Amino acid sequence: MKFIAYGPSGTPESLRVAEAPTPTPAVGDILIEVHYAGVNRPDVMQRMGRYAPPPDASPILGLEVAGHVAAIGAEVSQWQVGDAVCALVPGGGYAQFCVAPARHALPIPSGLSLVQAAGLPENWFTVWANLIDMAGLRSGERLLIHGGSSGIGLAAIQLARHVGAQAIVTAGSDEKVRFCRDFGAAEAINYRTEDFVLRTQEFTAGRGVDVVLDMVGGSYIPRNISLLRRDGRMVFIAFLQGSRYEIDFMPVMLKRLRVTGSTMRPRSVDEKAAIRDALAREIWPGFEAGRLQTHVFATFAFDQASDAHRLMESSRHIGKIVLQIR
Ligand SMILES: NC(=O)c1ccc[n+]([C@@H]2O[C@H](COP(=O)([O-])OP(=O)(O)OC[C@H]3O[C@@H](n4cnc5c(N)ncnc54)[C@H](OP(=O)(O)O)[C@@H]3O)[C@@H](O)[C@H]2O)c1
Repeated sequence: MKFIAYGPSGTPESLRVAEAPTPTPAVGDILIEVHYAGVNRPDVMQRMGRYAPPPDASPILGLEVAGHVAAIGAEVSQWQVGDAVCALVPGGGYAQFCVAPARHALPIPSGLSLVQAAGLPENWFTVWANLIDMAGLRSGERLLIHGGSSGIGLAAIQLARHVGAQAIVTAGSDEKVRFCRDFGAAEAINYRTEDFVLRTQEFTAGRGVDVVLDMVGGSYIPRNISLLRRDGRMVFIAFLQGSRYEIDFMPVMLKRLRVTGSTMRPRSVDEKAAIRDALAREIWPGFEAGRLQTHVFATFAFDQASDAHRLMESSRHIGKIVLQIR
């Protein structure tokens, strides 16, 4: 099969089409003939040598795919050859064929195309695990999302609305701010031209927020803490501005805050299967009914993976970038 390899330089230009043996599905796995693969920021980090795949995962880039089941491993009863699926994979997505645990695949929601479905798993598994399972976001609460126009950010906006919470987001341009408002954010703040702490305090009439979903870290950490109200939760999913910062922990104690975070990729097969089941039950019907949306910003041909990564690194995109594999 053909796949996208990357070179030791770690540059976008080092991404190129190469050949490797087609993988075979092990017990409990399915082999997917990949039509589209979602591009995610962790792929960029892996290409740069800053995010090693877990030891048992494919070293090929790509954390989510959509396509058709091409073969099934032993003890798989829920899928048949030819079924259209999308799946979270621990690696191997940028290839014509990819193995996924059968329990990590989902049907394509009716009304969504394969290209749209390819961009769902990584973002939705992540926002569900962090906002629902870990932060316990619930109806009537306020959620501050940094990176609101990212793939993760747009999924988090939709999830907040779905549970009846209010989403306030930060983003880096007026165009992104407008898009996030149209996509369901109650308030969107251009952090380059406005102070997000002041604006959030204004918007919430000084009450602050219940949950912060942070991918920035660094100087945002004390500012997030200042915005959290009593019993608030701060969830880290990345540290684009760095993971070290000197802060005063006193407000954590006085406001009974909880500080947490997680990464999706090293979670066990069982943990991911439980998240998959929750998404199938709680979220997929929302896509089928048209209550939930996703946004694909750009699709690139298989041999244009370099351009896809350059776009992601530019941060000009809003929502998902997808590779067309076949
Ligand atoms: N923990 C997990 O399990 C997990 C899983 C998936 C993704 N992630 C992380 O979640 C984040 C979003 O992922 P994605 O795939 O949705 O990526 P993405 O679409 O590329 O989003 C990243 C966004 O972050 C903003 N940004 C970039 N550098 C920044 C900086 N220095 N300070 C502030 N904002 C910055 C950019 O928006 P602006 O131009 O508006 O600033 C950009 O759109 C990534 O950091 C990724 O590593 C974590």
